[in-house]
Amino acid sequence: MSPVVTLLINGAPIEAEAGVTVASVLHRQRPALRVSPRLQAPRGLYCGMGVCFECVVTIDGQTQRACITQVRDGMVVEVAS
Ligand code: FES
Repeated sequence: MSPVVTLLINGAPIEAEAGVTVASVLHRQRPALRVSPRLQAPRGLYCGMGVCFECVVTIDGQTQRACITQVRDGMVVEVAS
């Protein structure tokens, strides 16, 4: 069993398995944290491999791609909705 880390997503503490990506944690949040501005519906990943920049979020004050960033204990993630 992988160790569990706690990160803050838009101020809310969320537990996640160490080693998973921020994108995978965001994807499982309900209600969805990422919403398509065009469709006003939950938005998933696009490339999932760091190419398209569709998953950018603010992590510890820096703009990062969520799909290639692993969670860390104490990480602070801000997602614009
Ligand atoms: S989903 Fe394409 S860079 Fe993250």
